[in-house]
Amino acid sequence: MPFSEDFLEELSRRNDIVDVVSGYVPLTKRSGANMFGLCPFHGEKTPSFSVNADKQIYHCFGCGKGGSVINFIMEIENLSFPDAVQFLARRAGMEVPEDTQDVNRGRRTRMLDLNREAARFFHARLMEDAGRAGQAYVDRRGIRSMVKPFGMGFAPDSWQSLTDAMTAKGYTRQELVDAGLCRVGKSGGLYDYFRNRLMFPVIDVRGNVIGFSGRILDDGEPKYLNSPDTLVYSKSHSLFALNLAKKSKSGYILLAEGNIDVVSLHQAGFDSAVASLGTSLTADQARLLARYTSQVIIAYDNDAAGQKAAQRAIGILQPLDLRINVVKIPGAKDPDEFIQANGPQAFRNLIERSGNQVEYRLEQTAAEYALDTDAGRVGYLRAAAKLIASLPGSVEREIYGLRAAEKAGVSPEAFKLEVERVRKQNAAAARKQRDREASAPLRAVQPQSRELRFENVRSAVAEEGVLNLLCRFPEQFGAVPLTAADFTSPVLGGLYEAVTERLRQGRSVSLAALGQQFGPDELTLLAKILQHDEISAPAAQQAMGDYINKIRAERDRATRGQDLRGYAEKLKQTKGYGS
Ligand code: GTP
Ligand code: MN
Repeated sequence: MPFSEDFLEELSRRNDIVDVVSGYVPLTKRSGANMFGLCPFHGEKTPSFSVNADKQIYHCFGCGKGGSVINFIMEIENLSFPDAVQFLARRAGMEVPEDTQDVNRGRRTRMLDLNREAARFFHARLMEDAGRAGQAYVDRRGIRSMVKPFGMGFAPDSWQSLTDAMTAKGYTRQELVDAGLCRVGKSGGLYDYFRNRLMFPVIDVRGNVIGFSGRILDDGEPKYLNSPDTLVYSKSHSLFALNLAKKSKSGYILLAEGNIDVVSLHQAGFDSAVASLGTSLTADQARLLARYTSQVIIAYDNDAAGQKAAQRAIGILQPLDLRINVVKIPGAKDPDEFIQANGPQAFRNLIERSGNQVEYRLEQTAAEYALDTDAGRVGYLRAAAKLIASLPGSVEREIYGLRAAEKAGVSPEAFKLEVERVRKQNAAAARKQRDREASAPLRAVQPQSRELRFENVRSAVAEEGVLNLLCRFPEQFGAVPLTAADFTSPVLGGLYEAVTERLRQGRSVSLAALGQQFGPDELTLLAKILQHDEISAPAAQQAMGDYINKIRAERDRATRGQDLRGYAEKLKQTKGYGS
């Protein structure tokens, strides 16, 4: 265990969850011990994000996220468990005890140092005479003035140059391989992963070099080589050039596809350009963006793949309540080519004329139908009405409704009727969904993650009840006559085992303490379970008895079912059925 339990308890005590969360989320409503606010993890208009001061947990009834104050910081600051602990310790003015620090901390620091050294090495190779190939490439692309601000470099056309240089600085084979800079060859020796490439260091918002992206200098394949995910680099959580873009005063972030586009945009004065590296935009990257801006302008490539990626990105950004615009780039394949051909002012004009996402999607929808046929117009009308019905503002619905009606060749009134019909349908579906959730709280409790789904929901509710009572009233219960094997849900069984083991040893069963042992999915589940407080202390004994009986009854039913099935099989065999 990297952190001592006493330390984690103290850390949680000194970082009251209501205080901490209030720094990010205004908690505007109160109901009993629960404070409510708008969930920072998914877009919503009415508060379903709750913080419970008594239990020191948070839980969102909308998206299902939940946990302790440490989980909250992990989630919202995009930090690992040890880093979140560090963060909260600093906030509370506490020392993190040296000897109990995370074992990975040392490795992480070493890896960041190694990455920085490697970036320096690549940069020096680009600047020296031997780096002519890299320089020629930078000049050909017209991005020389960006070499310094981006810390660009050149990986020499050699198998060993980085390996040798870093080994000389005292880095071990294992460290070089773990950082994704070197590979192990067939003969067991190391070789440089990046060779004869223009190197872009990937730098996080704190200024750490976390990985690399290398572009080939000619038309060879693969065009880009990116660092694998490592202890310090996760490609789905990082954005290229966000370290620079976060300082921009432009009021928006430009989201491009290629590294070269980003560099070229910065050179042309668009200092808020970023790109995802080797993946299409992920929800984590979108959340990261939302921490630095309230408007995203998508400037993807002009080809079919780029347009499809833009549609996808809109879908991912939309729940975060960001203003989304889409730039269309006429007569060039990407922002870089456009700027090289037409200059920065022309691109600025494109940004100013960029349509918002509604216009963009209406246009995309129109392109999917043959509007010169009746069938095509009807199809467009339906699809456009669906899109417009999802807009929250009535003014927006009015404005875009007029345009869409014109395109579909119907009267604005007729179009409005169709929109209203869809809205009624949506509202009815939402009501039904709410009713279902209210009448079957169980189903709402089903974990998000696939692996955690319950086999036997009836038994799982009782299993959750046992955990709830054990954690809330540990002093009331000695040994509970159940083992993890009595649990139908392996996750709940695992939690039960950990909780009872801790209680036996007289240790704490707070989420903060369990946080080291379990992943975010399990902790979210446990936070959800603890959220229930229908059963008060005096009723706990009785309720525990009921839960135990329920679990046993369900188990018996299941075995009886098996016995009967076995009996039926036997009957078939003895009577010769089916043969
Ligand atoms: P230019 O053709 O030089 O303008 O390149 P670009 O920087 O504009 O990149 P491009 O539009 O071809 O690709 C967009 C992004 O997709 C790149 O920045 C990479 O992150 C990723 N990508 C492109 N090719 C590859 C590849 O071969 N492998 C991997 N892993 N990612 C790639
Ligand atoms: Mn490109």
